Amino acid sequence: MSIPHTFVQELLARADVVDIVGRHVQLKKGGANFMGLCPFHSEKSPSFSVSPSKQFYHCFGCGKSGDAINFLMEHTGASFVEAVQDLAQQFGMQVPEDDTSPQDRARAAEQRKKQTTLTDVLEQAASAYQKQLKASPRAASYFKGRGVTGQVAKQFGLGYAPAGWHGLAGAFANYDDPLLEESGLVIVGEEKDGQAPRYDRFRDRVMFPIRNVKGECIGFGGRVLGDDKPKYLNSPETPVFSKGRELYGLFEARNAIRDEGYALVTEGYMDVVALAQLGFPNAVATLGTACTADHVHKLFRFTDSVIFSFDGDNAGRRAARKALDAALPLATDVRSVKFLFLPPEHDLDSFIRAHGKEAFARFVSESIPLSQFLVDAARDGCDLQTAEGRAHFASNAKPLWRRCQRARSSNNY
Ligand code: UTP
Ligand code: MN
Repeated sequence: MSIPHTFVQELLARADVVDIVGRHVQLKKGGANFMGLCPFHSEKSPSFSVSPSKQFYHCFGCGKSGDAINFLMEHTGASFVEAVQDLAQQFGMQVPEDDTSPQDRARAAEQRKKQTTLTDVLEQAASAYQKQLKASPRAASYFKGRGVTGQVAKQFGLGYAPAGWHGLAGAFANYDDPLLEESGLVIVGEEKDGQAPRYDRFRDRVMFPIRNVKGECIGFGGRVLGDDKPKYLNSPETPVFSKGRELYGLFEARNAIRDEGYALVTEGYMDVVALAQLGFPNAVATLGTACTADHVHKLFRFTDSVIFSFDGDNAGRRAARKALDAALPLATDVRSVKFLFLPPEHDLDSFIRAHGKEAFARFVSESIPLSQFLVDAARDGCDLQTAEGRAHFASNAKPLWRRCQRARSSNNY
C-alpha cells in the first residue's frame, strides 16, 4: 500500500509531536523545548528533547531522532503504514490509499473502530482482575509463592479472576453486552427455552493480560492456582488477538530488548514474568502455539538478535524445529537467530534460581547458532556410520540450506 506524500505532510502538520511523544514519555518544559527521559535507552537524567517549533525529537544520549511518525514506529514497533493509520485515526482523517475502493476504506475504518472498542472492553476487564488480585489473599500468595514481587506483578498487570460464573458482572454495567462475548471474556452457551446462558470464561485463575506493542490489552492467559486441567486457558482468536502473531511480554520487554541487544523467546507466561523478576527483562513468550514467521518478523523490528529457549526434552526439540522453520527465511547476515536448550532437570526459572544470573548469562552467550542447529536437525535420526544414513542426512540438509541461502541473498525484510 502506498500513501501519498502530501497526506503524510498534512498528517504531520496536524499532529503535535510534543503531544504524541507526551503520551508515552513524561515531558517537562525546558526553554524552547521539552525534555524527558529517553524511551530508547536507559538513563537517569533527561537527554531526550522534543522541539515544538521543529516538530522533531532528538536524544543527545543515543542519537535517536525523528518526527511523530518515526516516534510511533520506534516506540511501538509499528510499520510506517501502521503508524500513519494510527495517527490518522486519532485525528479522524481517512488515509487515502491509491489502490482501494471507497467501500474497502469504509470497511477498514469500521474494523479499526471495532478494534478500539474491543481493546477498551479488555482493558476494563484487566483492571477489574488487577483489583481482584489485591482482594484475594489466595491469588496474591500464589504469585508470591512463585517469587513474583508486587512491582513485577504491577508491571505486567497481573490479576485474578474470582471463582463464580458471573464475576465480570461486577465490572461491566451490562453483562449482556455482545462485546463481552466478542472479546472472548464471556462464553454464550447453547440456547435452552429461548435463553442462552452467559458466563465468564476465566474463573478462579490468576490472569496474565496480553498486550499489543501499543500497550493495549488484547487478550488474557489464565492459570489455575492448583493442579486442575487445563493448566492455562487463553483468550480465543478475536479481531484484536491472533496467537500466531502476538508475543506475550513484548510491550513490557521492548526497551530492554533494545538495551540488551537481543530478545529471548520462551515458551510460557510464567517464564517471562520470572525472567523479568530475576533480572532478564528482555524475554517474551509464544502463546502456547508454535513460533511463526510473523513472530520472528515482529521481533526483528526491535533487535537484530533473537535467541529461542527450549526445554531439553523431546517436546522442546520439536518446538525448536518449528522455530527453525519459522526463522530460516528471515535470518540474514545481520540478523542472527540462536537456540538455547535447557538441561532436562530445569526450566528457565529454576535454572537461574539454582545457578545464578551470571551462569545463565554465560549459558545464553553459548547458545547454538541457527546454522549449527540446522545441521543438527538434518542429522537427527541419521546414522552417519552408514552410507545410507549419510545420504539421508544430505537430503535432509539440502532444502534447509537452500531456504537459508535464499534468505541471505534476498532482502525481503
Ligand atoms: P507449560 O505447561 O510448559 O507451562 O506451558 P509452564 O510455563 O511451565 O507453566 P507453569 O510454570 O507451570 O505456570 C507453556 C505454555 O503453553 C501454554 C501456555 O501459553 C503456557 O505458558 N499452555 C500450557 C496452554 O495454553 N494451555 C495449557 O493447558 C498448558
Ligand atoms: Mn514452568
